[in-house]
Amino acid sequence: MPTTKSALIIGASRGLGLGLVKTLLADSWQVTATVRNPQNAQALDALGKVQIEKLDMDDQQAVIDLNQRLKGQVFDLLFVNAGVKGPDVQTPNGGATMADVGQLFFTNAVAPINLAQYFVGQIRPQTGVLAFMSSVLGSVTMPDAPELALYKASKAALNSMTNSFVTQLGEPALTVLSLHPGWVKTDMGGEGADIDVETSTRGLIDQVNAYAGKGGHHFINYRGETIPW
Ligand SMILES: NC(=O)c1ccc[n+]([C@@H]2O[C@H](COP(=O)([O-])OP(=O)(O)OC[C@H]3O[C@@H](n4cnc5c(N)ncnc54)[C@H](OP(=O)(O)O)[C@@H]3O)[C@@H](O)[C@H]2O)c1
Repeated sequence: MPTTKSALIIGASRGLGLGLVKTLLADSWQVTATVRNPQNAQALDALGKVQIEKLDMDDQQAVIDLNQRLKGQVFDLLFVNAGVKGPDVQTPNGGATMADVGQLFFTNAVAPINLAQYFVGQIRPQTGVLAFMSSVLGSVTMPDAPELALYKASKAALNSMTNSFVTQLGEPALTVLSLHPGWVKTDMGGEGADIDVETSTRGLIDQVNAYAGKGGHHFINYRGETIPW
């Protein structure tokens, strides 16, 4: 068992991804983190000690290139955090185009699993954790926020894609977490959200530590409470 744990965080330029990196560094983890645009890496860079890599998760060749660059590294945690909210108006006939909807579902549901497929072999056997940033809004009977219908469906799709991925992988020892971070004050969550980034990411990393080694696929929030699928 290594003394220093290592993490790969996908989508860490701002918001929860940046917060996850801060929390892990405070816990003395070694962190590799990705940004879509290196020009938006100042906040991450200012933390020091972070290996910063460029990645647009939607770009298949970029995923392959990153996988090549990180070949041989083993991660105690792979956290796929990146995600988008989607079109402004998400009600039926609200004007969202096929391209808008395709982009939303590709980024939120397909790209995370595609990336996980490339990196799952580099997650530490027995104790490593594969985490996806889901949302309680992806729970299919959740009545809240109907105005975010497409976003909600994209997170439900992520959960379903994760379930298929885990089933096909057939490795019960791997711990896979679909995590709800709470409603968090970020660019996406808005100023009126319930909690700050630090509270959320502290809770999320506590759950990663608590679930490491347990195996199986779990849908929980940052406080460790189970969420119905
Ligand atoms: N905030 C909340 O209340 C809340 C609640 C539930 C779930 N979530 C989920 O938590 C995650 C982070 O949300 P947030 O609130 O921190 O949002 P945010 O402030 O909008 O940040 C989103 C992050 O994802 C990155 N990203 C988006 N598309 C990407 C792509 N194709 N490739 C690589 N990176 C990409 C962004 O990079 P750029 O800077 O380059 O755009 C940014 O770093 C998302 O998956 C979101 O759905 C958030």
